[in-house]
Amino acid sequence: MTTQAPPNLAGGADPDVAGVRPAARLRGRPGLPGDKSISHRALLLAALAEGTSEIQAAGDGADVRTTAGLIARLGASVERGRSDSRRVDYRVSSPGIAGLHEADGILDCGNSGTTTRLIAGILAGLPGYHILDGDDSLRRRPLARIIEPLREMGAEVHARRGNSLLPMTVVGHSPLQAIDHRTAVPSAQVKSAILLAGLRAEGRTTVRESVATRDHTERMLRARGVAVLRTALEGGGLAISVEGGTPVQAVLETVPADPSAAAFWLVAGTIHPDAELTLPAVGINPTRRAIIDLLRRMGASIEERTVGDAPDGSSGVDSETGEPLADLIVRSSELRAIDVSPTDVAQAIDEIPILCLAATQAHGTTTIRGASELRSKESDRIAGIVAGLTALGAQVTVDGDDITISGPTRLIGAPTDSRSDHRLAMTFAVAGLIASGATTISDPGCASISYPGFFAVLEGVRA
Ligand code: S3P
Repeated sequence: MTTQAPPNLAGGADPDVAGVRPAARLRGRPGLPGDKSISHRALLLAALAEGTSEIQAAGDGADVRTTAGLIARLGASVERGRSDSRRVDYRVSSPGIAGLHEADGILDCGNSGTTTRLIAGILAGLPGYHILDGDDSLRRRPLARIIEPLREMGAEVHARRGNSLLPMTVVGHSPLQAIDHRTAVPSAQVKSAILLAGLRAEGRTTVRESVATRDHTERMLRARGVAVLRTALEGGGLAISVEGGTPVQAVLETVPADPSAAAFWLVAGTIHPDAELTLPAVGINPTRRAIIDLLRRMGASIEERTVGDAPDGSSGVDSETGEPLADLIVRSSELRAIDVSPTDVAQAIDEIPILCLAATQAHGTTTIRGASELRSKESDRIAGIVAGLTALGAQVTVDGDDITISGPTRLIGAPTDSRSDHRLAMTFAVAGLIASGATTISDPGCASISYPGFFAVLEGVRA
């Protein structure tokens, strides 16, 4: 097998396409960006907190930069500090929510659904006229799920296509009315938008969800002095409540490495026949670690060494973020097919594309049920995965919202279309490490939405 840098990195002819050749071995410690979900929240909560917040090792992808740019437009002072190609320190000084103001123009959320939905929750309670827009992908993504509850809370929200798509206007009011809302689809973005609006409401705002989605907003609010109540619901699910009016405190926080970025190396290390990769200090929050457990169910060898700040190293929880961390060591493994339930899909929502690649190398037929939400991400990820993996020779079928993958299949390098979706681009690039011949990926630059420098790291792990 030979290795070759992607043409775009090697200064080749076509910067719109990357080429990945199979790797003889995979070794090393792939550098990871700071967690994207936590980085967005750290910036937004820093804007709500009066005083100076320090955010260390945030993800430096385009989406997080978008959030940083927007809080500055609303009146926070945002300084970039030390950075490497994947992470950056921020210092945010803010007058606090009462001192923020409407921006002098359109708030461009770029490609970022998290920015759009979470900031809408803040703008709902910020008196002023706010206009949000985004790129072509973001203009196709569903917003009724936040617009309806935010209107119920008293914000005036209008959007294209019957109040469902960007561009969107928000006329914020303070105080808002507290609501008790049951989410129609499991979504941490919707939950977070409502909880953030709830900080500006009179009384207790509650969000009920049928499946526990990522709980960073709850943990990070608690770390900033806001009481967040969490109650298990009869028949499953959770109710999460905040009391309006509690101030958010400024804190210093170090962002863990992103488990959704680590997932690409967990799968690469598992499916490659000669691999050992170490991923340091990855966030293993119970609401984010589903990919580790799904891969283990498939037979993956993933060792977890807890990282803690207690003197004996035993706590496993970082005291600043309240987030559990672990070093993960992944080695080549024989995989078997599994059934992935709709609950698994909700808990590994961003990792399903790369899990599909793992399934192509597993013995038997993997079924992923109830994956409809994947159609509402940066692209229709069901269509994109089926097209890309089929092009590489995998056996993939779709029946409604269920994906079925039979394996193991020897993948054959071919052109793949990322649809300018970062998670698809990285999935097909990892496939290229085991496929014979050359795999090409269209618009590889989109990987920097969540993982700047991804292709350089990919070249670095070739032993
Ligand atoms: C995110 C939640 C998820 C995920 C997205 C980040 C967050 O979206 O897909 O990448 O930071 O809250 P949904 O909660 O809408 O499924």
